[in-house]
Amino acid sequence: MDRSYCIAPMMGRTDSQFRYLVRQISKRTVLFTEMIHSNAILFGNKNKLEEYSNIENPIVLQLGGNDPKNLGQVSKLANKFNYDEINLNLGCPSPRVSSGGFGAALMNDPELVKNCLSSIKENFDKEVSVKIRLGTDDNDIDETLDNFVDSVKSSGIKVFYVHARKAILKGLTPKQNREIPPLNYERVKKLKVDYSDLEIIINGGIKELDFLKKNDLCNLDGIMIGREVYSNPLILNDVDKILEADLTKNNSLYDITSEMFNYFGSLKNKNLVKRGLIHMHGLFNGHKEAKKIRILLSNSIYLEKSKNEILSILEKGIIRAA
Ligand SMILES: Cc1cc2nc3c(=O)[nH]c(=O)nc-3n(C[C@H](O)[C@H](O)[C@H](O)COP(=O)(O)O)c2cc1C
Repeated sequence: MDRSYCIAPMMGRTDSQFRYLVRQISKRTVLFTEMIHSNAILFGNKNKLEEYSNIENPIVLQLGGNDPKNLGQVSKLANKFNYDEINLNLGCPSPRVSSGGFGAALMNDPELVKNCLSSIKENFDKEVSVKIRLGTDDNDIDETLDNFVDSVKSSGIKVFYVHARKAILKGLTPKQNREIPPLNYERVKKLKVDYSDLEIIINGGIKELDFLKKNDLCNLDGIMIGREVYSNPLILNDVDKILEADLTKNNSLYDITSEMFNYFGSLKNKNLVKRGLIHMHGLFNGHKEAKKIRILLSNSIYLEKSKNEILSILEKGIIRAA
């Protein structure tokens, strides 16, 4: 799997509707699910794994949890679906997640991480990866990160998505934890120098496709973009062209919008349609008529009417103002 361009997993955002939207823009960008806790699947909604369709590949299933046996069981179930990779979340700093002993808090227990990953690997037929931070709280990111990577590596894991900042588990909210701990891209670069056999994808604050080149980070294997993709999904417009996957013309804003409304027509659950409409807001970032279009997108009741009005605005040829 080519991991040059990946979308970051985001709870409440990278659901099936958003992933469908992204696929209208790029076929090759690697998609991630939202994090799903292994127990939420085993003891809750088993259908969670099915909230996925084949058009979404390449796609990574992100799991949360710290129980090797349960993670292994879910990984076995995941084989029935066509996920390309399972990723263990070792970066989420939320107090609820930390008190459950998973997410970023788990980085403080490399031995348990190793057991979790070994169990996932034993049960899942394809690639297994981790998403980590540079460390937590007062950890020294030079020494502790290397020790952590050594331990994780010994379970046979080769793919690391690295959010290039620490997680401060005491005192910061999840949102602050995505903004306050400083980004340290150089540390990620050094990680790849020291562990050239690993595939390292960098994450955190990335807003452009040529980020690696612009920041002298070309030794890294790929970029992962989160918030910027959500607020401006068209940033992915050139990915397929860069990867030479598809040299045909990009879907226009009109085509993407039209296909999304066709897709909504096939969804039986109206809440999913509502969520999908919200996910479309970022598409019109910078558009002259963005305000009007977003008001129309807020109306999930008269879907056909909203569709026609939006398409007629787009048809007038006002593709993008910026
Ligand atoms: C709303 C939201 C939800 C997130 N949910 C997850 C998640 O489920 N799993 C995860 O590993 N990271 C999650 N993250 C963190 C992102 O994957 C990413 O690491 C972070 O936003 C930094 O990347 P960015 O600067 O490109 O947004 C979330 C971030 C946001 C904004």
